[in-house]
Amino acid sequence: MESIPGPGAWLYSTIIARSPWMKDFYRAVVDEVCARLSSGRILDIGTGPGLVPLEITRNCSSIEAYAIDISHAMVEIANRNARQAGLSDRAHFRYGSAEKIPFENDYFDLVITTLSFHHWARPEDYLKEVSRVLKKDGELWIYEIKHEPTGENKKDFKRKYGPFLSFVVLNFVRAHSSISFGKIHEVQSYKNPGFTEIGTEDKGMFVKLRLKK
Ligand SMILES: C[S@@+](CC[C@H](N)C(=O)[O-])C[C@H]1O[C@@H](n2cnc3c(N)ncnc32)[C@H](O)[C@@H]1O
Repeated sequence: MESIPGPGAWLYSTIIARSPWMKDFYRAVVDEVCARLSSGRILDIGTGPGLVPLEITRNCSSIEAYAIDISHAMVEIANRNARQAGLSDRAHFRYGSAEKIPFENDYFDLVITTLSFHHWARPEDYLKEVSRVLKKDGELWIYEIKHEPTGENKKDFKRKYGPFLSFVVLNFVRAHSSISFGKIHEVQSYKNPGFTEIGTEDKGMFVKLRLKK
């Protein structure tokens, strides 16, 4: 299932806004984006409630953030969050899919996607579409939960967030919303993904795929 429907969107947004684990994760993504881009345009694909682009807009005054999602309910929630934060003028949310991104060629300096890539029905085709909207030398950063975290990753997680959250994340969240080493290798072996380099960065319980146009 690609899109998250109405009640699921509301539940997801409510849970992640209160989760210390997700707040730390979003903070780390925002810090990386702001360190990379002093100004320019960023696109977040599968933005959900839009917390990452909103934080980017809040923290990096010269970045214009755009975000799409194939769930109408999520786009509605993200737009409401932007209005409530007073950031609607620099954070733009609209309906759209990675399959056909509603922007012109060479438009973005950076594209990110957090915890959405594992939903994509045809990743190889969608990656080519992401490449189309990126400027030359632009990058796509894909963040996912690791399907096979190490023993050390699990211990660190439990130490930081306690046994309850650790149990939920390792047994339920990871089972449905994560990326395996096998899938990463598959992405790295795509014949013509529209990117010249595909590397990975270890982020503890997360992994980041970094694709350069
Ligand atoms: C688990 S949520 C992640 C939301 C947010 N990025 C976050 O980190 O909290 C995955 C989101 O990806 C969206 N999505 C799935 N496939 C998509 C696609 N092909 N194009 C755009 N959005 C997509 C879903 O509708 C959902 O809102």
